Amino acid sequence: MSFSKSSSTRTDLDVTKLPLHVAIIMDGNGRWAKQHLLSRIKGHEKGAQTVRTIVKTCRETGIAHLTLYAFSTENWQRPKKEVDALMSLLVKFLESEHKDMIDKNIRLNAIGQIERLPEAVQRALDKTMTLTKKNDGMHLNLALSYGGRSEIVQMVRQIALKIKEGKIDPDLITSELISKHLYTSTIPDPDLLIRTSGEMRISNFLLWQIAYTEIFVTDTLWPDFTKEEFLSIIKDYQKRERRFGKV
Ligand code: IPE
Ligand code: IPE
Ligand code: MG
Repeated sequence: MSFSKSSSTRTDLDVTKLPLHVAIIMDGNGRWAKQHLLSRIKGHEKGAQTVRTIVKTCRETGIAHLTLYAFSTENWQRPKKEVDALMSLLVKFLESEHKDMIDKNIRLNAIGQIERLPEAVQRALDKTMTLTKKNDGMHLNLALSYGGRSEIVQMVRQIALKIKEGKIDPDLITSELISKHLYTSTIPDPDLLIRTSGEMRISNFLLWQIAYTEIFVTDTLWPDFTKEEFLSIIKDYQKRERRFGKV
């Protein structure tokens, strides 16, 4: 894996070499709040504003797929007050943004254990996904109660069941078949994975899909992440040589 730190200089992008799919681990809301002597919840509220900025930037740049890690399967272990606040924030975000998503031709999709989310969140998701289902300007995927391992577990269960029912021959299990049974079946693998807040780890995100993804870690905390820094990371990505194991 190759990691690098970001520089904040902005230069023009080569629109012919844009990543088709950008995935982001939006980390650092809690640290941002601590720095500003605020509650963690205030940090998440500020983080939601960055989500708006980055969605808008991706749409304007012409990124086809954006996947945001908003809540992991492990995040259920946080204090109930924080989990509840994150869920309310999500409903608020969907309600305030759905009109804009329609106007900007953005299609919303959710990946993860959606059935574990509170009903209000599921309703808001359903509503926004229905309202935006014909949009094709950009695909915005929210990873919610998402975990790469649980995604793999549900994929194995689905395939095992099909084998048991005689619908699949085990000899016909291929990488493509596995990909088709993941939450991301209709989305290409990410070309670029960005993590904010400096942690050099994957935290159970898109384990199968990032086999050949370019990784970029910035020390910037998610609430401080800007359009300019995002564009400078895309520029850095465009300079990378992707070899896919070849020479
Ligand atoms: C990311 O920020 C948001 C979620 C995981 C929901 P954190 O809440 O993890 O912020 P830090 O890592 O404590 O700074
Ligand atoms: C990863 O951040 C999950 C999301 C951004 C939703 P965490 O803050 O939960 O990850 P760890 O605990 O630092 O690995
Ligand atoms: Mg964190």
